[in-house]
Amino acid sequence: MKLLEGKTAIITGAARGIGKAIALKYAEQGANIAFTDLAIDDNAKATEAEIAKFGVKVKAYASNAADFDDTHKVVEAIVNDFGKVDILINNAGITRDGLMMRMTEQQWDMVINVNLKSAFNFIHALTPVFMKQKSGNIINMSSVVGLSGNAGQTNYSASKAGMIGLAKSIAKELGSRNVRANCICPGFIITEMTGVLPDDVKKKWAEQIPLRRGGTPEDVANVAVFLGSDLSSYVTGQAIPVCGGMNM
Ligand SMILES: NC(=O)c1ccc[n+]([C@@H]2O[C@H](COP(=O)([O-])OP(=O)(O)OC[C@H]3O[C@@H](n4cnc5c(N)ncnc54)[C@H](O)[C@@H]3O)[C@@H](O)[C@H]2O)c1
Repeated sequence: MKLLEGKTAIITGAARGIGKAIALKYAEQGANIAFTDLAIDDNAKATEAEIAKFGVKVKAYASNAADFDDTHKVVEAIVNDFGKVDILINNAGITRDGLMMRMTEQQWDMVINVNLKSAFNFIHALTPVFMKQKSGNIINMSSVVGLSGNAGQTNYSASKAGMIGLAKSIAKELGSRNVRANCICPGFIITEMTGVLPDDVKKKWAEQIPLRRGGTPEDVANVAVFLGSDLSSYVTGQAIPVCGGMNM
C-alpha cells in the first residue's frame, strides 16, 4: 500500500529544488499533484512530465504565491480540477540576504511576502475547503534559521520563524476540525538556491554539520512524506529540523 494513495497535494514553488523532489516522492507514493510556480516554463513542463510518469494526476499552475487574489483564484481552479485538497505544502521561497546596516525595505518586503505572506494566502484560501472536508494537512517549509536566526538573513530568518508561529497557531485553531499543521526546518540543502554560494562558504557549512555533508532535496522530501501521510496522524504544531544535526 502506498503511503499517499488517492490524496491530492498542492505544492507551491515546485518546478525545481526541494518542491520538485517532494512532488516526485509524493507521486511515487500515489498522490495526485497540483503544483505552482511563477511561470509554467520549459522547466515546469519537464517537472510535470516527470511526475506524470508515476501514473498520477498532475497539473502545473502559474501563480505568484505572494499575491492574495492570485492565490485565491489558483486554489479555486485546483479544487475545481481535482475535487478536493488533502495536503498543502507551502514551499515557495526566496532569499535576499544582507546585513541589517545595508538591508533595503524592498529586500525585507520581498522576502516576507514570498516566504510568509504566501503561506497565509494559501492557508486562508484553503481553510473553508478543509473545514467543509473536515480534514486537512498543512506543511510549511521553514528553515533551521527560523529556529536559530542567522547573521545577514534577518528578513529570511524572520519569515521562516513566522511560518512556525503560523503553523502552531493553525494547529491550535483548527485541530478540533481534524486539520494538522507542521513545519519542516531544512538545514543546508544542495539546490539552486544554495548553489550560488561560493565553494569556501559551502565547505565551511559542511564542516559545521555533524553528518559532515549538505542535505539533498530527497532528505527533505522523505520527511514531507511522513508528515503528509497517516504515519504522522498524531503529530501537529511541530517544527522538525532536517539538517544533519546542524541544529540541536
Ligand atoms: N536549499 C536550502 O538549503 C534550504 C534550507 C532551508 C529552507 N529552504 C526552503 O525550502 C524551500 C525551497 O527551497 P529550494 O532550495 O528548493 O529553492 P529553489 O530556489 O531551488 O526553488 C524555489 C522555487 O520557488 C519558486 N518561487 C519563487 N518565488 C515564488 C513565488 N512568489 N510564487 C511561486 N513560486 C515561487 C521558484 O521559481 C523556484 O522554482 C524555500 O522555501 C526555502 O526557503 C531551503
